[in-house]
Amino acid sequence: MSEINNYITENKDRFLNELLDLLRIPSVSADSSYDADTAKTADEIKKQLEQAGADNVEVCPTAGHPIVYGEKIIDDHLPTVLVYGHYDVQPADPINLWDSPPFEPIIKTTDLHPEGAIFARGSCDDKGQMYMHVKAFEVMMKTDSLACNVKFMIEGEEEVGSENLGTFVKENKEKLKADVIVISDTGIIANDTPSITVGLRGLSYIEVEVTGPNRDLHSGLYGGAVANPINILCEMIAKMKDDKDHIAIPGFYNDVEILSEEDRLELSKAPFDVEEYKKSIDLADIHGEEGYSSMERVSIRPTLDVNGIWGGYTGEGAKTVIASKAYAKISMRLVPHQDSEKITQLFTEYFKNIAPSSVSVKITPHHGGTPYVTPTNFVGYKAAKKAMEDSFGKTPVPVRSGGSIPIVALFEEELGLKSVLMGFGLDSDAIHSPNEHYGVFNYFKGIETIPLFYKYFAEYHK
Ligand code: BES
Ligand code: MN
Ligand code: MN
Repeated sequence: MSEINNYITENKDRFLNELLDLLRIPSVSADSSYDADTAKTADEIKKQLEQAGADNVEVCPTAGHPIVYGEKIIDDHLPTVLVYGHYDVQPADPINLWDSPPFEPIIKTTDLHPEGAIFARGSCDDKGQMYMHVKAFEVMMKTDSLACNVKFMIEGEEEVGSENLGTFVKENKEKLKADVIVISDTGIIANDTPSITVGLRGLSYIEVEVTGPNRDLHSGLYGGAVANPINILCEMIAKMKDDKDHIAIPGFYNDVEILSEEDRLELSKAPFDVEEYKKSIDLADIHGEEGYSSMERVSIRPTLDVNGIWGGYTGEGAKTVIASKAYAKISMRLVPHQDSEKITQLFTEYFKNIAPSSVSVKITPHHGGTPYVTPTNFVGYKAAKKAMEDSFGKTPVPVRSGGSIPIVALFEEELGLKSVLMGFGLDSDAIHSPNEHYGVFNYFKGIETIPLFYKYFAEYHK
């Protein structure tokens, strides 16, 4: 493997600069004013895949943002790795909370990244992590060490629900035939504590609208005699959980997977320091469902959170008004075997049920997602484990993540393929937040680990 490491060392600056260039293009999928940039990012990835040596590279149009596909089939007898990643990023706002412009990447050191971290929207989620695969592929091509066939599928709509990727997968099953999917879009515990993600939560995302009077009213003339939709909405939200932080929607927990004490013990082995945790986000105390540890609360237990709430007067000064409408965006993270559509249904029934007759409610479901679990006894996991063992000099621990990558469950359903979630980000890298960053160490550790994964996957697959 020293030839590989030499090649990486010799090309270090270029590998870094190419990523910085990619980060300069604001591929915000949620905001159509960036559509030209999103398309440009896809074209750029196509170019880079071609330069690295991929064949049949194409930018596949969809009803939304395009998908970049490319492949290198070297030998029909070798196993095929399907790489999935996303080139779209979250909106950068609130812009004023960034210490440097989100699309002008800079490298700065931090406590956790003494070798420097790249500050830019998408640096960790997911351009930086996706691009590790493109560079690792180049490395394997140039050092003549590609141990598996490879297919790339890089999409531009992960942050908005991957709806068109689902269609693409269903329509291209033959083209996407492979033996394993590998994804770097998750994290590790720390730079000296590697881990592999073995679980992702599902999602149910709902928007609610509560309507009271048919127009905004003077709060003196009408206040006290009519329902205030903002007050009512808050009361309804308060009824979503009991005082033990259990979700109060009837039937919500019916399908929740209950882990054995043995499995809980296994997962509790991942190091976690509550004091550090509180300190890192400036909290005086933690909060959550009774009977579960913080790690369990963010992994094996479902949640309900209000993501946004608005209505009435929020401008400068005071305005005495009872608004006609109040709104909230509410998401629920789901665990195995909860079904997103069923949960959305249960939420809808409960929300309508608890609404007083003085208001009317409208419920709009947004995207959903199925939870996913990667077994630790399949070859993909074993290959990732050995690869990380080699590159970090430490055995990675399996960790269930609280985040969601909804398309992963669909990959299994439609393609019959399991995904290895071999990510290299840190929870503290501030993905989706201002000052998102990705460690230079992590970027190169990924590029170094991926060829080892291919090597061991080919070996174990036989
Ligand atoms: N890469 C993240 C998900 C993630 C991050 C999983 C870290 C595990 C560890 C992904 O881009 C993401 O943000 N997913 C969204 C869901 C999507 C439907 C918007 C999420 O989890 O909120
Ligand atoms: Mn991501
Ligand atoms: Mn994301």
